[in-house]
Amino acid sequence: MSRTLITGGTVITASDEMAVDVLVEDGTVVALGVGQDWTADTVLDATGKYVIPGGVDAHTHMEMPFGGTYAADTFETGTRAAAWGGTTTIVDFAIQSVGGSLREGLDAWHAKAEGRCAIDYAFHMILADVNDSSLKEMEALVGEGVTSFKLFMAYPGVFYSDDGKILRAMQKGAETGALTMMHAENGIAIDVLVEQALARGETDPRVHGEVRRELLETEATHRAIKLAQVAGAPLYVVHLSARSALAEIAKARDEGYNAFAETCPQYLFLSTDDLARPGFEGAKYVCSTPLRPKDHQADLWRGLRTDDLSVVSTDHCPFCFTGQKEMGIGDFSKIPNGLPGVENRMDLLHQGVVDGHISRRRWIEIACATPARMFGLYPRKGTIAPGADADIVIYDPAATQVISAQTHHMAVDYSAYEGKQITGRVETVLSRGRVVIDGGAYHGRPGDGAYLRRDTCQYLR
Ligand code: URP
Ligand code: ZN
Ligand code: ZN
Ligand code: ZN
Repeated sequence: MSRTLITGGTVITASDEMAVDVLVEDGTVVALGVGQDWTADTVLDATGKYVIPGGVDAHTHMEMPFGGTYAADTFETGTRAAAWGGTTTIVDFAIQSVGGSLREGLDAWHAKAEGRCAIDYAFHMILADVNDSSLKEMEALVGEGVTSFKLFMAYPGVFYSDDGKILRAMQKGAETGALTMMHAENGIAIDVLVEQALARGETDPRVHGEVRRELLETEATHRAIKLAQVAGAPLYVVHLSARSALAEIAKARDEGYNAFAETCPQYLFLSTDDLARPGFEGAKYVCSTPLRPKDHQADLWRGLRTDDLSVVSTDHCPFCFTGQKEMGIGDFSKIPNGLPGVENRMDLLHQGVVDGHISRRRWIEIACATPARMFGLYPRKGTIAPGADADIVIYDPAATQVISAQTHHMAVDYSAYEGKQITGRVETVLSRGRVVIDGGAYHGRPGDGAYLRRDTCQYLR
């Protein structure tokens, strides 16, 4: 039996702040207490530090194929970078290819991840081809712990599903207890605007943000909510960026529907000003939904306080500037969509605490506890309590750092947050009781991370 004791820190969960010691045995938290004479093989002194649950990032795309290339982080590099940033669980998106089965897609993602991850991992499934046989397969996948399915109202010809397919998938979701996740942008209309912009000779990265209009996120969000209501299904809108889309979610929630949404750090800290950077620099900020004007940020922070936004995930989907983002020189529509961030989420949200946008407990709620509950991993993940996995971060709230591609661990040649000053820093990270980050070094190995079979959404029962 191995025992680890974390002493002297302030334990912060979604519900409590407590000056208590934490006792870990064989990878599991066994007790929290004050003034106990516990002994342990390893004692970690957390005096003056926060002791928080490891982050749960419910939206990543390691090695994702997109626009003729692949996201630059593998499961090995991406999960190691996550650990450096205090995240100890990711939920990545396995992809069904058009004409292929869910099983083939899921098997392919298992093959990419198995034996390579630094932290624990689970999968959602992208439904790219809704038909009788894939709908039938949903049932089996739910039984295997893949309990959420993403549909796309965007990207016609790639991941896109029309309203009929969406309705049928939502009905199956309602029947099986699965959660429907939605990329809510009207991709059919966007493609018309893209074509017209290119015909006018407008090719810069900035135009990506202009054609993917706020109205088309709002319309799709509204439509997704109504389709979910018709199906009697719960809905989780991913990477919400626009204040008017948030208003649609808020209205549905006020009416009592199970409509949930996440936003991402890029929408809280970056804006169309970044997309409009001179030269081709704006390509570094091309993602979908796109960055919005800066004045949306205050509304998103407010949504996080009011719980109209329940979760912050990264949508980590990194493409190098050199050779990948550059595929779109002369045509913004060929820039692969996605931003790096799996390593930065816990720090950026702590900066939100320092800046007065959210409380410490809300930080843990949106980054750890709620994503774990939303995707059926709680209380094993997302909290520090007897019986929980000892996924624990010792966080120094007073340390300062400057985010930079020179020092980050993601396999991408730029940082979207280059030069940003952060108050707060991850000091030590435990994954199921094992110290994986400490003293400025990584101590784990590929394959330490285990696959997690998830329960269904814990807000629905
Ligand atoms: O731009 C983005 N978000 N890329 C990743 C794919 C997606 O739609 O989530
Ligand atoms: Zn998406
Ligand atoms: Zn502010
Ligand atoms: Zn995504």
